[in-house]
Amino acid sequence: MIDKNKTYIVMGLLDPDSIAYAVGKTIERFGGKVIFTAQDARMKRLFLDRSKKLTDEEKASLDIRFCDITVEDEVRNLFADLDDVAGIVHSIAYVNPKTGLGEEFHTDAVDDLKVGFHISCVSLATVARHAYPKMTAGGSIVAMTFDTKHTFPFYNWMGVNKAAMEAVVCGLARRHGRDLIRVNAVSAGPLSTKAATNIPGFKELGQTWADNSPIPWDVMADKQAVADAVAFLIGPYSKKITGQILYVDGGASIIGGKMLDHER
Ligand SMILES: NC(=O)c1ccc[n+]([C@@H]2O[C@H](COP(=O)([O-])OP(=O)(O)OC[C@H]3O[C@@H](n4cnc5c(N)ncnc54)[C@H](O)[C@@H]3O)[C@@H](O)[C@H]2O)c1
Repeated sequence: MIDKNKTYIVMGLLDPDSIAYAVGKTIERFGGKVIFTAQDARMKRLFLDRSKKLTDEEKASLDIRFCDITVEDEVRNLFADLDDVAGIVHSIAYVNPKTGLGEEFHTDAVDDLKVGFHISCVSLATVARHAYPKMTAGGSIVAMTFDTKHTFPFYNWMGVNKAAMEAVVCGLARRHGRDLIRVNAVSAGPLSTKAATNIPGFKELGQTWADNSPIPWDVMADKQAVADAVAFLIGPYSKKITGQILYVDGGASIIGGKMLDHER
């Protein structure tokens, strides 16, 4: 599933619940060498403090670097130090929950929206621009998205960012085909992580999946299914797949109306 001993950069580590952590551990299990990134030293400390189940030895074995994705020099420096990168996972998003999420879609906080757009969308292209010279043998970039075929309550401007980010995935796939670099996204159902629980109404999202998913969806346990799909897209078994959004959501996104009792 993964090219053994090759280097994979997994960006977006906050705590042991982060999708990035599940993805990184999955890539490692398949034999890949993983370099995680956290936004800054404080986030790395947060991760280590919250990783109560990890032994000191396990913590010490993790290669965690810093990269604030909005700081051009930090992205440049991250890749300047690396050679032969086989894959990159972009598992990063942010929008100010007070202005970009919530009961009211309208907001005049345009500066907040710009920051959210930069972090959640533009940064994927920034990463690709600095990474591709280090992916000399080709490779794969995978981003994380959330159902953009529907609008969801509270998700407001993050939904906008995700739709735009999916367009970036396609633009990058077209641009980097010549470099044999594939660019795709995994569209995950709701998972209980820090970013998700910051979304007002996350419980309702979980309920929507409980109501609408043909395959039962578990906001805790199904992180592994999502990580497995990322590992598939980042590795050699998805060689000719690029510019695609792979839905790993129990099938909820294809349901029209509601799932009825006799369908369960
Ligand atoms: N949890 C879900 O329900 C769900 C569903 C679908 C998609 N996703 C997506 O998965 C990805 C990972 O989210 P998660 O749920 O693991 O939450 P998370 O909070 O663990 O991860 C979000 C990460 O973004 C990082 N980040 C924010 N601003 C940054 C910046 N300026 N520079 C560098 N890093 C920055 C945070 O530090 C954090 O590590 C996001 O793109 C999210 O939208 C999540």
